[in-house]
Amino acid sequence: MKNKKTQFGFTQVNESEKSKKVESIFNSVSTNYDLMNDFMSLGLHRAWKKYFIETANLRNDAKILDIAGGTADISLAFAKKNKTFSIIHSDINQTMLDEGRKKLIDHGIILPSIVCDCESLPFQDNFFDCVTIGFGLRNMTHKLNAIAEAYRVLTPGGKLLILEFSKVWEPLRKIYDVFSFKVIPVLGDLIAKDRASYQYLVESIRVHPSQEELKKMMEQIGFYDVSYNNLNAGIVSIHKGYKT
Ligand SMILES: C[S@@+](CC[C@H](N)C(=O)[O-])C[C@H]1O[C@@H](n2cnc3c(N)ncnc32)[C@H](O)[C@@H]1O
Repeated sequence: MKNKKTQFGFTQVNESEKSKKVESIFNSVSTNYDLMNDFMSLGLHRAWKKYFIETANLRNDAKILDIAGGTADISLAFAKKNKTFSIIHSDINQTMLDEGRKKLIDHGIILPSIVCDCESLPFQDNFFDCVTIGFGLRNMTHKLNAIAEAYRVLTPGGKLLILEFSKVWEPLRKIYDVFSFKVIPVLGDLIAKDRASYQYLVESIRVHPSQEELKKMMEQIGFYDVSYNNLNAGIVSIHKGYKT
């Protein structure tokens, strides 16, 4: 078990190494993370997140857990959408969480920000009405464990929403690959002075499960009525499933 291998971008590493490598990437990118998102996605990530929040379709007083919440765009959008929501902003990485916390406070929002590993969540069973994972699942070593933990902490009928890079519509793959492999690492170098982290980003997208594979993973854990929406020809997709 100790020497089991996993993908870190295109490189095979020991499972025990992956979380350290992911941690060091997010320590390195945290201060430029939002700026880079705007450059790399040409601002589209804002629309993707806005739509993601809308698809949650939650009642008043809903309890929401934002996993891999990072710089808090998703927690912030929920907090702005409905003041009655109870939101927990969480991430494994303190530096990302700190950036998120600053942003929340700048917007006059106070809510709990908690450091935790989504593969072992410090919350009771059957508690949240909605769990979100925004651009986080790709970085996790044991994705099924993360999905199972989300399942455990949801109330029966509660929903898991996953926003993640996905498989692009075949006719656009060549041009998307050129943009990904030739432009994004250069932007990372110029803007964040960190080419390697953005090389990891584009590689990690390519080794992430496809829309159908992720749907099957959610069903394997027990989610029902699992569906997904492709945005911008599958550059990202939103998966939704309900706890039985
Ligand atoms: C690309 S950022 C996404 C941040 C934010 N949700 C957004 O959409 O902008 C991915 C986040 O996943 C977090 N992460 C990686 N592995 C994790 C784990 N095992 N548990 C919780 N968070 C994790 C990283 O620390 C990082 O902040």
